[in-house]
Amino acid sequence: MLAELFLSLATPAARMTRRLGLVAESVALWARGNRQRRAWAPHHERCRAVVSEVVAELPQHRKVAVLGSGLLRDIPLDLLCERFEQVLLVDAVHLPQIRLRMRLLPKVRLLTRDLTGVIGWLAGEEGGRVDPLADLASDPAVDLVISANLMSQLAWPVEDWLDDHPARAGQLPADLPAQCIAWHLTDLRRFGGRVALLSDVEMIERDRTGTVIDRLDLTRGAALPDPDESWDWPVAPFGEAERDRESIHRVGAWRDFR
Ligand SMILES: C[S@@+](CC[C@H](N)C(=O)[O-])C[C@H]1O[C@@H](n2cnc3c(N)ncnc32)[C@H](O)[C@@H]1O
Repeated sequence: MLAELFLSLATPAARMTRRLGLVAESVALWARGNRQRRAWAPHHERCRAVVSEVVAELPQHRKVAVLGSGLLRDIPLDLLCERFEQVLLVDAVHLPQIRLRMRLLPKVRLLTRDLTGVIGWLAGEEGGRVDPLADLASDPAVDLVISANLMSQLAWPVEDWLDDHPARAGQLPADLPAQCIAWHLTDLRRFGGRVALLSDVEMIERDRTGTVIDRLDLTRGAALPDPDESWDWPVAPFGEAERDRESIHRVGAWRDFR
């Protein structure tokens, strides 16, 4: 608990980023990932394998952009640094341990960005969505973009914030959380280079008898082609969130999303 408090306080973040719970969520993800290291390892290995295979297929290796880089558990960072001239790590929150580690890697640049593009709009500072990837999408040297288990995370902080601010919510489109996911997919399709998409797409909750108690579409209805590969990620095994309930996320990997 003390480590989590320290990390939260030591993480530089804009006020709205913190208010949306993104710092708290990054710290919680770090802690849960440590507790569930073994259960999550196959998911991380599969993500890293997909990325490694995509990297091997590319004819050029100038810049790579990792969207939702976070703790980089699902990314073969050493390989990216070896093969690419520049590695851009894009996330709303870069925890202190990532900032420290990246200081030793001269090819890596950390970009702190809201990839929904709507945080300023929520706060009333912007009149609409700001394109979060305009500069990167127009850079012809970006040979690879990896959306790294980010997509499903784009909707819920916005949804929670709107629930807590009903007056402001009334002035904004009702489907804004789902739109954040749809916009992300549109953003990915704009890149000229290769785009690899890794994302959980469905949550399934089961009790100890194996009975499905709940299912949730994490894509919020977004139209996606069939993934090239899919697997289960035990995000919350029995005892993590609830003693007699486990939460499994179905993950998809699209090697050439565009
Ligand atoms: C499930 S985590 C995956 C992190 C990373 N790929 C890993 O495996 O360590 C989702 C990531 O998306 C980031 N994220 C969530 N909402 C975001 C937003 N609006 N803009 C940018 N990043 C966001 C979180 O900070 C977090 O690092």
